[in-house]
Amino acid sequence: MELSGKTVLLGLTGGIACYKAAEFARAMIREGAVVHVAMTENSQQFITPLTMQALTGNPVFTSSWDSRQPNNMPHIDLPRKVDVIAVAPCTANFIAKLANGICDDLLSTLCQARPVTTPLLVAPAMNVEMWEKPVTQRNICQLQQDGIGIMGPASGFQACGEVGKGRMLEPAELVEEVIAALQPKTMAGRHFLITAGPTFEPIDPVRGITNHSSGKMGYAIARAAWLAGAEVTLVSGPTALPTPYGVKRIDVMSARDMLEAVTGNLEGIDVFISVAAVADWRVKHVSTQKIKKVAGQAVPDLVFVENPDILATVAKMPDAPYCVGFAAESENLREYAEAKRRKKGVPLLVGNIGHETFGKDDNTLILFDDNGALELPHDSKQNLARRLIDQLASRL
Ligand SMILES: Cc1cc2nc3c(=O)[nH]c(=O)nc-3n(C[C@H](O)[C@H](O)[C@H](O)COP(=O)(O)O)c2cc1C
Repeated sequence: MELSGKTVLLGLTGGIACYKAAEFARAMIREGAVVHVAMTENSQQFITPLTMQALTGNPVFTSSWDSRQPNNMPHIDLPRKVDVIAVAPCTANFIAKLANGICDDLLSTLCQARPVTTPLLVAPAMNVEMWEKPVTQRNICQLQQDGIGIMGPASGFQACGEVGKGRMLEPAELVEEVIAALQPKTMAGRHFLITAGPTFEPIDPVRGITNHSSGKMGYAIARAAWLAGAEVTLVSGPTALPTPYGVKRIDVMSARDMLEAVTGNLEGIDVFISVAAVADWRVKHVSTQKIKKVAGQAVPDLVFVENPDILATVAKMPDAPYCVGFAAESENLREYAEAKRRKKGVPLLVGNIGHETFGKDDNTLILFDDNGALELPHDSKQNLARRLIDQLASRL
């Protein structure tokens, strides 16, 4: 529950994407948030205050002249009881009003009256022509300069039947933006390159050798780095996981593919975290045709050769980024992990306690560096990833 203890003011303006605002409100509540809603008059043509009240369990505000507030000033009181304001959907009209300080209804006035420390996020949602008009782009630039967060928009098929940029982000993506807005930006301006998942080393066109890595730990770290403000590229072996929102993902199969993707994307990278379970060996001669099972014939004799060591290769480079390795051992973790750290020449090596963490949602980690070992106790991989990012922030 990543929004536990947080109160969000959700503003709705008059766009078709109001239908997604209902799910956005629910998704924030599922993450533990208390949600209050303020709606423009036009938004009520698309979804009723009753729906939003029923979903959030809180009275919905639609007018500046609402006597339910003891002092009759909802535009002052509402933004003072919330941690963040998110306007989703946000019309071209409302963007123009925010850019120019127009306060002619409750929602625009409370945005203007919000305390300077309360983040304001908007999710533009409109027809592609409206989005691309110079005036809308000028207004968006103005909002960015004023410190207002712009969530999206995405491109694709639009409700009006046209195709292009202007679609509101999906509710799950908006939730990620809200979680990020409430988090300290300890990694702002940093570029991370992270590897995750297993590699797959082919034997023939239909067979190969892989391992049990699910990618969950690496993906959680990529997400945590993005939430902390970093720009993140994730080089991933084959996994079934969705790409964390905000993260650029490059898919690879073998260790050699992974090395190529890593070395090709190192420019400007400050931190390299090698979480992937890279196969140590690959099959020397990969058959171009499926190896047939023939009755009475001997089983194939596979010859292995060593794969490149991606972490050690990066760590040895001139101007190498800050390198972090991962180790999963079935025995003697402390001894092997510290030896691996020295062999690879990296300042920080993270040990997974127990190789049975593969595929699970939780884990226990030990951090090895020049000062010794630090255990991050058993927790979800998402929480451990955050703690690891905090640790990195104090070391960089
Ligand atoms: C059916 C319909 C759909 C609309 N959808 C959008 C939209 O998605 N985005 C947008 O910026 N305006 C849209 N508009 C126009 C706005 O509703 C209009 O600009 C209105 O003044 C916005 O008011 P508000 O910003 O105070 O809510 C739509 C209008 C209609 C009639």
